[in-house]
Amino acid sequence: METKTDICGMEHVKWLDNGFRRLLQNPRKLFGRYIRPGSVVFDIGCGPGAFTRDLAEMVGPQGQVVAIDVQEAMLAMVEKKIDAAGLAGRVTYHRCSGDAIAIDRKADFIVTFYMVHETPDPMRFVDEVGSLLNPGGVWFLAEPKVHVTEKEYRDVVDRAVAGGLTIRKREGIISRIAVFRK
Ligand SMILES: C[S@@+](CC[C@H](N)C(=O)[O-])C[C@H]1O[C@@H](n2cnc3c(N)ncnc32)[C@H](O)[C@@H]1O
Repeated sequence: METKTDICGMEHVKWLDNGFRRLLQNPRKLFGRYIRPGSVVFDIGCGPGAFTRDLAEMVGPQGQVVAIDVQEAMLAMVEKKIDAAGLAGRVTYHRCSGDAIAIDRKADFIVTFYMVHETPDPMRFVDEVGSLLNPGGVWFLAEPKVHVTEKEYRDVVDRAVAGGLTIRKREGIISRIAVFRK
């Protein structure tokens, strides 16, 4: 996959977190079947938090969501929304470098929505995501067709499978989606 360095800036947040997108990409419909009360969820490349609040509601009071991003401003925006929703105890924040997530815990469910193509080395990133999943854990990958070719997406999927993840589902109308289990 071609290495890209452009990342989605704050000027794009209005396209990511709005009612129209919520109708098209409802987090409960997309992720609900993979999350249990008490789950640990990583929302990697969380951006402005279009999914974070729903994830926090789905994991329940015993669960935990880690919102992860390279941009401090994105994490600050998510924290404001989570605090306003009264869910502060369920969400922690992790600012990563572009090169590695480098977090000292594992997840039952990881979502990377529209972000893998922004990482400087997607193959290395895929390997790290696999290493961060608990046994039986699920990774939900979505990439935008408009920015990611079928070949680039397939390279990511093939790398995940080569690393030992099992592919459970593939689909895509406006997005290229794959769901993996460890
Ligand atoms: C297009 S936005 C998508 C945000 C969110 N996942 C959504 O679907 O609404 C991509 C996000 O990924 C973040 N990002 C880019 N490269 C990253 C990296 N290497 N590690 C973690 N986050 C990254 C960007 O800062 C940005 O917030």
